[in-house]
Amino acid sequence: MCGIYGIADKNKFGAQDIVNGLKQLEYRGYDSWGIAVTTDSLVKIDKHTGKIGEARSILPDSTTAIGHTRWATHGGVTDENAHPHTDCKKDLAIVHNGIVENYEDLRQTLLKKNHAFTSQTDTEVVVHLIEEYMKSESFELACQKAFNELIGSNAIVVMDNGSKSIFAARLGSPLVIGKGTDKYFIASDITPFLDQTRTIYFLDEGEAVLIKNDKCIFYKTKTGKIFTPLFAQTTITKDAVSKGEFPHFFIKEIYEQVTTIPKTTKIDRKDLESVVSEIKKAKKIILLGCGTAYYCAVGSKYYFAKYGVDVSAYQASEFTPFLETIDENSLVIAISQSGETAETLETVKYSLEKGATVIGVVNARGSSLERIATMVIPVGSGPEIAVVSTKAFSAQLAVLYQIARACNGELENGRKDIEEYGKKLGAWLNERTLDSIKELAQKLIKTPHVFVIGRGVEYPFCLEFALKIKEASYIHAEGFAAGELKHGVIALIEKGTPCIVLCSHDEEYPPILSTAAELKSRGAWIIGVGPKKAKEFDTYIQTFGAGSLTGLTAVVAGQLLGYYMALFQDLDPDKPRNLAKSVTVK
Ligand code: G6P
Repeated sequence: MCGIYGIADKNKFGAQDIVNGLKQLEYRGYDSWGIAVTTDSLVKIDKHTGKIGEARSILPDSTTAIGHTRWATHGGVTDENAHPHTDCKKDLAIVHNGIVENYEDLRQTLLKKNHAFTSQTDTEVVVHLIEEYMKSESFELACQKAFNELIGSNAIVVMDNGSKSIFAARLGSPLVIGKGTDKYFIASDITPFLDQTRTIYFLDEGEAVLIKNDKCIFYKTKTGKIFTPLFAQTTITKDAVSKGEFPHFFIKEIYEQVTTIPKTTKIDRKDLESVVSEIKKAKKIILLGCGTAYYCAVGSKYYFAKYGVDVSAYQASEFTPFLETIDENSLVIAISQSGETAETLETVKYSLEKGATVIGVVNARGSSLERIATMVIPVGSGPEIAVVSTKAFSAQLAVLYQIARACNGELENGRKDIEEYGKKLGAWLNERTLDSIKELAQKLIKTPHVFVIGRGVEYPFCLEFALKIKEASYIHAEGFAAGELKHGVIALIEKGTPCIVLCSHDEEYPPILSTAAELKSRGAWIIGVGPKKAKEFDTYIQTFGAGSLTGLTAVVAGQLLGYYMALFQDLDPDKPRNLAKSVTVK
């Protein structure tokens, strides 16, 4: 949540460089954006509500600049609340990702010391606190002191006009340093500076850096102890974070699944076997995630059951009442695209404290989850930029499917299924499929509600299918377990109510068709999704048979439907309203 970007260079550069970099970070929030540059006198700020679009910077060239793209937490979406924020004298500017939980106390203290606030944000108190400490300390010491006073999960980047330097510190929200030629970059992730350097260092929790021109000093925020970081080369290329020939990241990432799903079979077999041995040792196994990752957890639960392993799936945000049940015999499998989701991380930290083993099934590299988990299985689907998650879901599911099969001694067969699946998916993503989904999308955007119905593993797939429609098109969509309809939900069905019925699996075919018939006899418009056509369907989206993985294609159909339902309403499919891709605050 919130994207941060800064550059400190030996030579002057254009402020537009920051604006361009921020565009890569907009998936983290797009309520407002802003930049600040140093000048010969004071810092200069340019900030606006809304998305960046084709904005051009009006600020002068400088050697030091920072920028921010915001997902609002404290204070409404206004120009005043947009970052960067400045101190009273406009010598300092700050950008921030996180929540300062004690900001009201700090604000009251600073008000008594005559600091004047111009926004309602928690962020602004930090820059005034630094200003206060700078009455007696150097810029970096004042920043360090102020940072240590903050309660909550925070990453800050502060720029000092006087010394033309940037201070950055991390505790709970990500920050990465890029080492360029005669310059350093600091950002929430590597995407803004990938075209200039692939030499990077992810700040660890409680680490800070002071950057001036082309020099960097790293130290621990608590002790002030200086350390030498180990810079590494990222393998991610600029192409992986650009749209290429596609109009949006959303559709690009849907298509990428043709390769990202089979690529999971290249994960080291020994790593998966280590997970299996942890599963066999554990007395309690918990799958954990938020949003799409949670639906992946529920879907995987069905696979584990099929191959003889009993696991529970929880939304990380709902796990607090169950925390006490975790102990050293517990195994927590945390699923996360970003590896930065606040609630997932909180539960993981607690589980580790209680002695549990934690396995992270994570997509983004260098994430907090990757750092703290006992063991990590990187799903390797590359940067996922569209806010609506697609390829991370299917890759995570493919990984967990392999683990489930490996528990039963069938890893190789599981891998063959997945490789085969990738080929079939590539063939299915053709003009005919797209035309049928586009036609359906055109009709569904005229309806207020869409129900998605399934049984067995297709129940969680329904939830994910419906989520794609909600997130992308803002049309109410709800996933239901077919067997539960009669217990209440069927009361909502009237003439023409669209009911998407997922019918992928032979063992569920007769009962799901009975449900479709019951809905149809009450006037519902039945949209069947599956490899076999049935007389109950008024509209049909054909998928293909792929054994236990057949239902996964229904999710891909849901992704495509969500995409086109956004497109046909002139909505931005990559940046749905109110959402952010990486939810780093609770
Ligand atoms: C946000 C995103 C979702 C994502 C969820 C969990 O809500 O918009 O797409 O599923 O966070 O994110 P994670 O990075 O932990 O998978």
